[in-house]
Amino acid sequence: MPRWRAQAFLAAISLASAQTFPNSTTPPTNGSSSPLNNADSPPFYPSPWIEGLGDWGEAYAKAQAFVSQLTLLEKVNITTGTGWQSDHCVGNVGSVPRLGFDSICMQDSPLGIRFADYVSAFPAGGTIAAAWDRGEWYRRGYQMGQEHRAKGVDVQLGPVVGPLGRNPKGGRNWEGFSPDPYLSGIAVADTVRGIQDAGVVACTKHYIMNEQEHFRSPGNFEGSFVDAISSNLDDKTLHELYLWPFADAVRAGTGAIMCSYNKINNSQGCQNSYLQNYILKGELGFQGFIMSDWDAQHSGVASTFAGLDMTMPGDTDFNSGLSFWGPNLTLSIINGTVPEWRLDDAATRIMAAYYYVGRDTASVPVNFDSWSRDTYGYANFYAKTGYGLINQHVDVRFDHFRSIRRTAAMSTVLLKNNGVLPLKGTEKWTAVFGNDATENAYGPNGCPDRGCDNGTLAMGWGSGTADFPYLVTPLEAIKSTVGQNGGVVQSVTDNWAYSQIQQMAKEASVSIVFVNADSGEGYITVDGNMGDRNNLTLWQDGDALIRNVSANCNNTIVVIHSVGPVLVNSFYQSPNVSAILWAGLPGQESGNAIADILYGRYNPGGKLPFTFGSDAAEYGPDLIYEPTAGSESPQDNFEEGVFIDYRAFDQKNITPVYEFGFGLSYTTFSYSNIKVTKVPAGEYTPTTGQSKAAPTLGNSSTDPAQYQWPSNFTYVNTFIYPYLNSTDLRTASQDPEYGLNYTWPAGATDSTPQARIGAGGAPGGNPQLWDVLFTVEATITNNGTLPGDEVVQLYVSLGGEDDPKVVLRGFDRLSIQPGQSATFHADITRRDVSNWDVAAQNWVITDAAKTVYVGASSRKLPLSAALDTSDYR
Ligand code: BGC
Ligand code: BGC
Repeated sequence: MPRWRAQAFLAAISLASAQTFPNSTTPPTNGSSSPLNNADSPPFYPSPWIEGLGDWGEAYAKAQAFVSQLTLLEKVNITTGTGWQSDHCVGNVGSVPRLGFDSICMQDSPLGIRFADYVSAFPAGGTIAAAWDRGEWYRRGYQMGQEHRAKGVDVQLGPVVGPLGRNPKGGRNWEGFSPDPYLSGIAVADTVRGIQDAGVVACTKHYIMNEQEHFRSPGNFEGSFVDAISSNLDDKTLHELYLWPFADAVRAGTGAIMCSYNKINNSQGCQNSYLQNYILKGELGFQGFIMSDWDAQHSGVASTFAGLDMTMPGDTDFNSGLSFWGPNLTLSIINGTVPEWRLDDAATRIMAAYYYVGRDTASVPVNFDSWSRDTYGYANFYAKTGYGLINQHVDVRFDHFRSIRRTAAMSTVLLKNNGVLPLKGTEKWTAVFGNDATENAYGPNGCPDRGCDNGTLAMGWGSGTADFPYLVTPLEAIKSTVGQNGGVVQSVTDNWAYSQIQQMAKEASVSIVFVNADSGEGYITVDGNMGDRNNLTLWQDGDALIRNVSANCNNTIVVIHSVGPVLVNSFYQSPNVSAILWAGLPGQESGNAIADILYGRYNPGGKLPFTFGSDAAEYGPDLIYEPTAGSESPQDNFEEGVFIDYRAFDQKNITPVYEFGFGLSYTTFSYSNIKVTKVPAGEYTPTTGQSKAAPTLGNSSTDPAQYQWPSNFTYVNTFIYPYLNSTDLRTASQDPEYGLNYTWPAGATDSTPQARIGAGGAPGGNPQLWDVLFTVEATITNNGTLPGDEVVQLYVSLGGEDDPKVVLRGFDRLSIQPGQSATFHADITRRDVSNWDVAAQNWVITDAAKTVYVGASSRKLPLSAALDTSDYR
């Protein structure tokens, strides 16, 4: 053991016993319940202040200069939301009129702009993940950023890596990318860079363990109160799985991170000092700001000390007119509870993100309103005041439809093909089946926030949506192709018209069946699914539809639009089902993209970013659908540790239907010549030293008289302001317990230099984690007859007893001409071959023998070589 490890180990023993997450997931063998049950989250204070780490120096300096000019009330203003539906965006903070600084505008979503017209509807995160293409992820991010920028949005509320996708039934998985942390990590980093290069702040969300919709917030369940769910996990699982992509987002410079509704180890996400102070701002060196999810803040001072920097949408409950911050934040500073440096830090972080992406030059005034599509209306929707021009209907779509179509095709995964595909377009009779082939009778945006499953499915439901400018349906695109060739094409789009379906299937030379499965955010229930899916079966009687067609037509092609894996047991082996495609949630160009694939205008090259199993139970623990502890927080114990998706299938030796990374092409590829080269890199050194002391940018008067409502002030109903109602602080607080028994968490007000964290040191973590230790090359040959793309994948076996069989650690999408070869190249970093050591509180390369594999999927790994890590330990 190198010396630093021995020292860190000793230092960490005390830490580990008192101050870290639980360090084991193994339930006691005596049958008692999980060690994670009722797990707690250790306190960590003070909240680390921004220092301009990494490439944040310039933004930090500008932010400090700006915040130094602000009054206390103005600083409170830029950290506190103005209240639900008080302003034009889904969230806004107060402005600084004195300096001509407009309110910062936060707007959903991760796949475009929610609540606006003339915007593009991009493929969902979990769909574009299947493209395995860094360039397209970046481009999509950039284009979404351009659109937000042109509407006047400062902060795009996306991308998503929480949920990661622990269980495929999780309602919002499709908003994120993949249950594999490495794949999600690269996708989120490229998306963040894209959005921010366009001059808009990316808000990576939801931090963290927001893995299901049921019980995500405190509320009523069948008439009784149930507190928010607690996702309970251990330190190793946190680092090796759920935190991993957040680290990549921070390293890519994400300006904001949204804390989640749920509790983690029984501490609320937005006031979890361990996760926000120690892990995110400490270990990961996050320099931007933490924003609450909408009403996920449940305390004032406690959340301030626990690292929250911005409260959204600002009110305690939607439209309560009250805030945990606003006047209470003002109060907490002037009565000395919270030191001003903590507020300065929050404001500086917000402004640093603003400058980091160049909003000082990119910003345009907001020209739309979230709450109405009318041209004229109320600026303050809830209060019904400020009548005027609210929607300028600016078309911000540029020519994004082109890349939307291409990336939707690139993300389509060919799961089965007995040779029928690609179609020629000259088939004698093409029959199209399924309500998923056609348009929602109410229009593509006819159900608010896409909260229904009518017609073809091209995005899930909830806040992670955008309005379609149009939605090209599969039926119209297929008709247009066949029509050009003068063929016969007909459809039955009522899934229950059995006799018509059967009759047409008999006559058809090719039948294309469209089926789907939907999910979304928990505030909308669709067909009995409260956000989370109740099961993994096809919706709208999809299995019966496929049966009715395939029983009568021996050339049945199935196209699945779904939020994630579905059960295909009833049909995938049927000889009459000649091809199966997974097209995910493709966005506005859905029909064109699938027709491009079906008719061979685009050779499919997508690969699954998750596993298709044959039973929901194969994926591991179920979601929690019923309270587990009366009115207390349901205890969701993540006992499976890092074993989710393919890692679970591998661990339990379950053969998946279609494994993670799987996907066919109209051509074929062969793999040869793996070559591993060691790259010299020094020994890993944990970060040491101390931070600077917290700067205080203002020394505001503590005289309550300074913070009263201005005279003749026009108050907007339920809008959140920073002013006090009284010069008597007890009265101003409206808190009967004001001043009684307040005890500060130990260290919370300490502004002296703080010890740096060994695994930290720069945004994302210790920079040496990204040292390249090996390069790997392999030769990939297109031995078929068509040009095509192959997503080449690299997996590593970390070799330890507790390690998954293999973990994804590299990939590239290569376009190769028939008969030609290409060289796959991947870098393996220190992080890629390390494990999280709970005792050392750092990443270590274990002694276990490690192997690298290269192949076409997580289970087709023809090439392998040993990885000799001895020099790096
Ligand atoms: C969702 C967030 C969203 C916010 C604003 C919340 O309920 O969880 O993802 O950004 O609302 O709409
Ligand atoms: C809003 C969403 C928000 C949700 C919170 C809905 O009414 O439209 O933006 O995410 O409430 O539960």
